[in-house]
Formats: sequence, C-alpha cells, structure tokens
Amino acid sequence: MLDRNRLRSWAVIVVLALTLGAAARAEPHKIIFDTDFGICPQDDCYALMLALHSPELEFLGITTVAGNWSLEQGTADVLRLLEIAGREEIPVYAGADMPLMHEPSEYARTTYGSWWSDEAPTEPPGGFAEKQAEDAGAVEYIVDTIEAHPGEVTILAIGPLTNVAMALRHRPGLAGKVKQLVIMGGAVAALPDGAGNMTPGAEFNFWVDPEAAKIVLRSGIPIQLSPLNVSRKSSFSQEWFQRLVATETPFTRLIRERGRVGWDDADPDVVIHMYDQIAVASLIDPTLVTTTELYVDVDASPGIGYGTSYGFTRIWPGAEGAQKMQVQHELDWERFIEMFIERVAKPIPAHP
Ligand code: BDR
Ligand code: CA
Repeated sequence: MLDRNRLRSWAVIVVLALTLGAAARAEPHKIIFDTDFGICPQDDCYALMLALHSPELEFLGITTVAGNWSLEQGTADVLRLLEIAGREEIPVYAGADMPLMHEPSEYARTTYGSWWSDEAPTEPPGGFAEKQAEDAGAVEYIVDTIEAHPGEVTILAIGPLTNVAMALRHRPGLAGKVKQLVIMGGAVAALPDGAGNMTPGAEFNFWVDPEAAKIVLRSGIPIQLSPLNVSRKSSFSQEWFQRLVATETPFTRLIRERGRVGWDDADPDVVIHMYDQIAVASLIDPTLVTTTELYVDVDASPGIGYGTSYGFTRIWPGAEGAQKMQVQHELDWERFIEMFIERVAKPIPAHP
C-alpha cells in the first residue's frame, strides 16, 4: 500500500517544481533589438511588430545598422514604427553606417539592399516621426547596457553584425557578460536548404559585413543562429496575408497599405519566405524550431566565398577559433504562422 505521507510529499514537490518552472518562464528576456530596419513590407518591420506584441520580451533599446537600407533610412523608419505602435518610450540608438571593411562594389549597388547609399531618407508612411534617436551611438549603448546588466541581456540581431562586432572590439571582456545572441544570418551548406541568397554561398546579412560576422561568431557568446536553412521552411502565401490584415489596427492598416508585395494577378500563388520574424519567434518559443549544434565560421577573405558561412561537426583547418552554436534548420510552420498572425494583428495595447 502507498504511504500517504510520501504521496503528499511527492505532490508538494511536483506542485513546487511546476510553480518554479512557470515563474522562471514568466521572466521576460531583456533584449537589445539590433536591426537594419525598413518599414513594411521589410521583414525587420514584421519582426519588430511581433516582438512588440510579445510579453516574453522586455525591450531595453533598439539599435540600427546599415543593411537593407542606409542607416538614416532605417533609423527614420524604426522611429516612425514606434510612434505607430505607441511605444515612444523605447530608446533608439543609431549605429554603424558602413560595414567594417566591405567597400560597395557595382554588384552591391545593383543586386539587393542599399547599405551603401548616402541619399537622404525618404519619408516613412505618415511622415517623419517626432521621436528622435538618442544622442549616444549604438556601440556605446550596447557596451554600457551589457555592463549594467551582466549576464542578463540577449542581443537579437537581425541585420549585419557591425554594431555588435564594434561593441565587442571596443570593450574586451564584454562577450563574457552577454547572456546570448539570437542572430538571423548565414546559410549552412552542411544542412538542407543551405545555399546563399546574395552569392551562391553567402546570405545577405553576413555578406554585407563578413568581418563583423566572423568576430561575433567567434566571440564565445552562446549563439542561436537562424540561417536561411530555417527561413526556407516558411511559406507566406496570399491566404495568410489576407488573414493577417482581416482586423483593423494601426499595424494591419500599415501592412495592408505597404505589405502586399510579391503577389499580383499574374502570380497569385507565389509564397514568400520569412527571415527575421523566425529569429524573433524562436526566442519567444524555442520549441518552434529544431536546432543542431555545429561549429560555424565565416569566410571573410576577399574572393568568391566572401561572406559564406560554413558549419561542421568539428573544427577544420582554417577554422581554428570557430565556436559551437545552435543552428536552426526546421520550423513548425503552422504553429509559427498562427502565433505570428495572432500577435501582429491584435489591437495595440496602451502603454504607460
Ligand atoms: C536577411 O537579409 C535582410 O534582407 C533581411 O532583413 C534578413 O535579415 C535575409 O537574408
Ligand atoms: Ca534584417
């Protein structure tokens, strides 16, 4: 016969464990959101909308970097989005307006992205924001914030890694104080769907600043890498888009006006990959993705492999110094897209 007292003790232990587990889960991730922002339909914009509507994330600040657009354009657009969201209390810090070493080539100017542009930014929808970027720069902000919260801050990096690399170079020892990095970047040929999107091997964020990517990936910070392998498991169709904009909120209005890209009468069945949104979602709910632990390094030498990332189960010649990280490659698409739509489309809550 079962001993009643023992049974009761077990019940207490189970309840305690569940309560502690829930309490631990309830603690939001303190994040610095590092982005080469562009207003919707840019994926950084959708990613920020998702993050802003996720109680699992606590925004410390947003840092901008040149990538999809110039630094000025990205900063103007993110300030405007925060106004649309009613989240003017989140500080924005402008960062690097050029990669560490990469000089814009004819290929860079004509293929994709305008990180190299020095043209004045165009007006975001609804006009330039009244909100201004902070006086401090992104690198100074990242260093000071990590120093102020050692071991507590997650950097969610969804653009070229220039700001993060500069912060690490600026303050030796900083890497040991970063809780973790979630990075959208790279493509890993050792796993399925690992071709590049800028060159045969290189993904855009890593290609724009391969030197920065190499510094950051070798830093020793615990890394969740969200490369093209996992992005390619997404397929955003016109049907999902219609569901997203079925409600009427400031976000869905903006998406409806700006977001219907890629679908036209000639090709209504086209599906679009999602990139930065998946990196954000994986921090909110890690069970949405499947990862494999690999050493990952980046080719930063001039030549045809510039910006290509490589993943392998062991260190190989030339990759001495590479670090192991979690590489995402599978996605629970249905669960992800349901969460994405539900959160992005929900009414914008009032914030203090
Ligand atoms: C990455 O490049 C950028 O264009 C997107 O915003 C994403 O971060 C995908 O390669
Ligand atoms: Ca991006």
